[in-house]
Parts: sequence; structure tokens; C-alpha cells
Amino acid sequence: MIATDDLIEVETERLLRSLMHVECDPHGRKWNYETCRQIAPLTLEINRLKKEKGAVILAHSYVEPEIIYGVADYRGDSYYLSLMARDARAKIILFAGVVFMAETAKILSPDATVIVPDRGSGCSLADSIDGDGVRKLKTLYPDATVVCYINSTADVKAESDVCVTSGNVYDIVANLPARRIVFVPDRLMAQNVRSELQRRGVAKEIISSDGTCLVHDEFTVGQIAAARAQFPGLKVVAHPECTAEVATAADFVGSTGAMMKYVKSTDAPYFLMLTECGLVGRLEVESPEKRFIGGCRLCPYMKLNSLEKIRDALLAPRAEQIVTLDEPLRLRALRCIERMFELTPAAS
Ligand code: 13P
Ligand code: SF4
Repeated sequence: MIATDDLIEVETERLLRSLMHVECDPHGRKWNYETCRQIAPLTLEINRLKKEKGAVILAHSYVEPEIIYGVADYRGDSYYLSLMARDARAKIILFAGVVFMAETAKILSPDATVIVPDRGSGCSLADSIDGDGVRKLKTLYPDATVVCYINSTADVKAESDVCVTSGNVYDIVANLPARRIVFVPDRLMAQNVRSELQRRGVAKEIISSDGTCLVHDEFTVGQIAAARAQFPGLKVVAHPECTAEVATAADFVGSTGAMMKYVKSTDAPYFLMLTECGLVGRLEVESPEKRFIGGCRLCPYMKLNSLEKIRDALLAPRAEQIVTLDEPLRLRALRCIERMFELTPAAS
């Protein structure tokens, strides 16, 4: 069905109301009437396809703003999207994010067809260790509880005792009975866990594997000091995938969802967001009165998502876009995610 000019006009206005606020665009686009008008037929088509096929679109906050505000049904951080994937009663879940997120959705909603728009959307953390790597660590530290960050593959989750996200990692690790923890795959998050446990007076040994996030491992304390000197009153907001030095120098550290809440509820003249640029775009839309400084760091994997790929995948997904998991492996991975839900404090 071809959209009429009237429908396109209404859609253009709808898109414009959100996107006009985005300054931090990954392609340097200016979102005005013309750019919104160009994508309106495509967002209309995708939203129509969703209804026809019984699909929902889950989008991580790092994907492009036209996906988040044009076609996503749910947008947020990994924890929130896992809950939405678990509770979605949809025939199709299309995950605009990266592959480990789509795999997590499949683990939680096995009866849905889970689609990932680009199979190449990996993650430097998830790709840093596989199930064999975890098995080797378990042989070296047989008494340890194995904690995996959600940015990990299904086979890593299947080998782990409990999964965590950036929003619940400190509370879950602090409350585990084991004194020795093997933490995979993020070496920098492990450092942040050590500092936080020390701050809380909780004695644990944290052994980690060697992954880092290629976006967050680049931020430095030098950047923070320079920004603070230039912008008095600045608040620095960091993700726990940053180094411990950066996290210590920041005013707030948390998941992307918690970072958004902090900015929305904090009165400051400027904010420096030490995370992927997509989050700044979301805040520009949802808190247009706030001012953000600093450059833009992009996750190349998240940016593999596009409206065209989403439309094509909804029309006729290619085999590699459909997430499949071996059932015994899925059930083992599910146990570790369910343990996370049980151990997550209600406010996370
Ligand atoms: P959040 O769960 O905090 O959104 O983090 C996901 C991620 O990939 C950060 O790089
Ligand atoms: Fe992975 Fe980093 Fe991209 Fe997040 S930002 S998906 S951790 S590579």
C-alpha cells in the first residue's frame, strides 16, 4: 500500500517533533522538515509492517535517532530491553541493537521469531571470549562464582552462574555469597566493581577476562580535567565500561538508563556524557533544555542498524538475520539470566 500525501505529511510532523532536537547526529544530518519528509514513507511502511506481521521493535539507545523515535516500540538500556523481550507477546521481535541483545531476546522469548537487522553487529566485549574461554577459567578457579556481563554470547551465558547488566552489577556482585568471583568479559567493569566493593567494605576477589568496550575504553581523565577547566559547573556522567580512573573522576556512573535519569533530574549548566553518542541524541530530544559538551564517539556495531535494513528484514528476513539457538544451550543461558532477574533490586 502506498502512503498518501496526507499520511506522509502527518508522519513528517510526528518525526519532526522529536528529531528537530537532535544535534548530535551520527551522520552530521540536520533534522528539519525536508530530512523528516524523506524518511517518512519508510517509517510509515515499517510501522504498517509491524502491525501486519505482529512484530515489535526493541531499540537500544545507541542506534540512530530515526529508529528510536520513528519505529521503536521500546527504547532503553540492556536491562529494560531484556524485560521487554521477556514480556513481549509478539510473533516477531526485531532487535535494533547488537547480536548479543537479540540472542538475549531469543533466550527469553523462544517462541518469537527474533530478527537482527545486521548479523555483523557484534560487540568488542561479547566477541572477546567464548564458552571455551569461560570453561578454562572455571578449571583454574573451580570455587568461584562466574558472573557474566550481559554483553556476552549465549554460550558464555550458558557457562555462567549469573548474568549482570551495567545497572545491577554492583548490587548483584556485592550480595553474592561467594568470596571469589570470575567476571567476564569486561576487564574495566571488573575494575569498577573492585573499587565499588572496596567503597562498600565488601571483601571479594574479582578475577576478570580481558575484554574492553572500544567506545568506553578511550575516555581519559585528561579529557575530564580539560572539560572541567573550560566549563565551570560541568557534570561528568560515565558508563561503568569506562576505566576506573575515569569512573572515579566522574560525578555519576551508571547504565545508559541511569545516566539519562541522572541528567534529567540534575540541574547543571553543562553535561559531559562519557558514553556512545546516541545517548546524547536521546537526551537532546527528551531534555532539550540541557546542554551537552564534548565530541562524539560512535559504536560501529550499533550504527550497522538502519531503517532500510529493518524494513527489508520485516518484509522477508534472510536466514542469517533470524536468531536460532540450540535448545539445551538456551535453557542453560536462561538460568543465568533468570538468576539476574531474581537478584536485581526492584529499583534498578
Ligand atoms: P547499557 O545496558 O547501560 O545500555 O549498556 C549497553 C552497552 O552496550 C554499553 O556499551
Ligand atoms: Fe559493545 Fe561497546 Fe558497542 Fe556497547 S558500545 S555494543 S559495549 S562495542
